[in-house]
Amino acid sequence: MDQRTLEAALFDLPLNAIRYFPSLDSTNDEAARWVAQGAADLALVVADEQTAGRGRAGRRWYTPAGAALAFSLILRTPQVVPGVLTRLTALGTLAVHGALRGRYGLPAQIKWPNDVVIQGRKVAGVLAEAHWLGDRLEAVILGIGINVAPDSVSDTALPPAERRFPVTCVESALGGPVERVEVLHAVLAELIHWRPRLVSLIFLQAWEASLAFLGEWVRVSPGEGFNGGSPLNSLGRPSQRVWEGQIAGLAPDGALRLRTRSGEIVTAQVGEIRLHPLDEVVKA
Ligand code: BTN
Repeated sequence: MDQRTLEAALFDLPLNAIRYFPSLDSTNDEAARWVAQGAADLALVVADEQTAGRGRAGRRWYTPAGAALAFSLILRTPQVVPGVLTRLTALGTLAVHGALRGRYGLPAQIKWPNDVVIQGRKVAGVLAEAHWLGDRLEAVILGIGINVAPDSVSDTALPPAERRFPVTCVESALGGPVERVEVLHAVLAELIHWRPRLVSLIFLQAWEASLAFLGEWVRVSPGEGFNGGSPLNSLGRPSQRVWEGQIAGLAPDGALRLRTRSGEIVTAQVGEIRLHPLDEVVKA
């Protein structure tokens, strides 16, 4: 991958600028620096390697050279609606989901709120970060990391506590090699398709239909780096407790709806989902 290859591969997409780096701290950090210098809407930062890639809740994100996709798209003038970051995170996951299914026929699903999984194994993560100028939302940086080749999931560089969820990569799921720029093209094309539909019912429906573990028992807990959001009960009261329930779908604001064992519907605004096997939940 290099600047010229990227520009040639992505020439048919309405991107306003592309910057490629063989190595970066984090594409989200580089995009933030570019926003401060006046980057245009739909400006793209791509790195072959990240030395300080970031995940949600302060976790590290492993991006070794030559094996993964790490990129950040700058979105200017995003519509400021309640839950805009939740929706933009969904835009990223829906785009990866659509690309892996549409281009490669892989059974990708979205693990709410920010992961893409294949048969329960994480293949990609999304980190949407808002940049404010006073009380004006200047830009949202949509950072996406995709495990492409097997080397991208040799995450022994991370401490065990950070290797918490089973992982996979596109090539292992597919059983053969893929071109990273092709995956990138497919994801960006999906992003560009869904962006104008962000606040539409069809977006919410597509997002809901792509959810992993729909109807299955899961546990939602606040997680590390938890910062204020929490599951709400049907009276709208926040709770710090762990919820177990069957995923019932999405609320209009993108919150996850869970049906608890008592039949009550609770919604999780921010949290961490871990799949909890059904028999364990029933015995508990
Ligand atoms: C997560 O699963 O917690 C989100 C991971 C997001 C990783 C991507 S890689 C490109 C961009 N740059 C970063 O530092 N993080 C995001």
